[in-house]
Formats: sequence, C-alpha cells, structure tokens
Amino acid sequence: MANSLLPTRIVPFALLLVFFGITSARLSTNYYSYSCPNLLPTVKSMVASAVAKEPRIGASLLHLFFHDCFVNGCDGSILLDDTATFTGEKTAKANNNSVRGFELIDQIKSAVEQLCPAIVSCADVLAISSRDGVVLMGGPTWEVKLGRRDSRTARRALVKKYIPTPSFNLSNLISNFSAQGFSTKDLVALTGNYLIH
Ligand SMILES: *[C@@H]1O[C@H](CO)[C@@H](O)[C@H](O)[C@H]1NC(C)=O
Ligand SMILES: *[C@@H]1O[C@H](CO)[C@@H](O)[C@H](O)[C@H]1NC(C)=O
Ligand SMILES: *[C@@H]1O[C@H](CO)[C@@H](O)[C@H](O)[C@H]1NC(C)=O
Repeated sequence: MANSLLPTRIVPFALLLVFFGITSARLSTNYYSYSCPNLLPTVKSMVASAVAKEPRIGASLLHLFFHDCFVNGCDGSILLDDTATFTGEKTAKANNNSVRGFELIDQIKSAVEQLCPAIVSCADVLAISSRDGVVLMGGPTWEVKLGRRDSRTARRALVKKYIPTPSFNLSNLISNFSAQGFSTKDLVALTGNYLIH
C-alpha cells in the first residue's frame, strides 16, 4: 500500500477549512455563470448519486484534489494518464494505489462536456466535485473560485517532494503543510480525510 499520509486516527473532516488558497485575479465564483449556468447543479447531482452508492467516494474526491493541488497547484495534472511517451503524476508512488475517484471525475467531466462543450476545465470539475463530496458527507461548505486552466504536463518528480510519506513524524508533516500555506488544523482535516477515503 502506498499510503502517503501519516496513519494516525484523527477527526475526519470536521475541521476542514480552506481551500488551496488560490487567489489569482482570474478566478471567481461566477466564472461560468453565463457560459455554463447549470454547471454547479450538474456536478452536485452526479457527486450525490456517487456518494449515495458509495459514501467513501466523497472523501476520495477531496484526497484526489489535495494530491493534485500539492504538486504544482490545482491544475488537474494528476488526472493525466501515462502514455508511451508521457509519464505523469497519476502512477507516481504516492498516488498509485492511493488516490482514487478518477472514473467519477471522468464521468462528471463528460456530462459537463454535453452541457457546455469545451468550456469548463477538468481542474475546476475536480475542485467543485471535491467540495460537493465534503458537503454531502456532512462536512462544511465553501465557495469554490473557478477559472483554473488545465495543465498539459505533469510533474512526477515533484510528487515525491510535496506529498508526505507515511514515515513522516508530526514535525515533518507540520512543516510540509506549512510550506504550502496550510495550518496544523488544515493538516488534521486533510490527514483525517485520508483515513476514510
Ligand atoms: C501502479 O499500481 C498498479 C496496480 O496495483 C500496478 O500494476 C503498477 O505496476 C503500479 N505502477 C507503478 C508505476 O508503481
Ligand atoms: C522528526 O524527524 C526529523 C527528521 O526528519 C527529526 O530531526 C526530528 O527530531 C523528528 N521530530 C520528532 C518530534 O520526532
Ligand atoms: C517535507 O518534509 C520533509 C521531511 O522533513 C523534507 O525533506 C521536505 O523537504 C519537505 N518538503 C517540503 C516541500 O517542505
């Protein structure tokens, strides 16, 4: 098992706060209000169906988002499949056999493509889905700023650098999360999530 976070038992989600402090001027909560007005309800209903079938997937979506964001930002790069000429983040050690939910994101993205072709990024679909997953599992809500662009490349080597390993002690974890702008409370929320995803 490629467990990538400290396997300590901590309150799941309850303290989940923030989100990946992206403050680009281009991002806004109403980014797709005109170009894809039904985006949010469409994503929410698909995540709700998935969570009704398998509650764990709500936590998995947050975990997937977190592992995308920690490596060079929330750019959807973790979603890219390996090919004969490209090796991405998806199968890097800390992600392979740990991160899940890719099929659900693919299904939601396909539905969004039917709704508004070539408008909404995969990175935004992932950001919205993970928020909806948390809310559906009884966690807090937050407004997701949108307008992320998808990465066309991945940074496999950085997965090892940014995703904490199971051998990290508390001070290692606190410093790794702090390097990304996260508090210890955020660390507890995201690590707690890991236990149930
Ligand atoms: C990822 O996991 C799959 C399934 O367990 C395994 O077959 C594959 O070799 C792993 N890939 C890497 C790069 O570790
Ligand atoms: C955590 O591990 C680091 C080495 O990575 C070590 O220097 C430090 O003393 C350890 N801290 C605790 C509290 O065990
Ligand atoms: C994460 O912590 C480890 C162990 O303390 C350290 O080697 C690594 O540089 C840290 N990574 C970041 C991005 O701070």
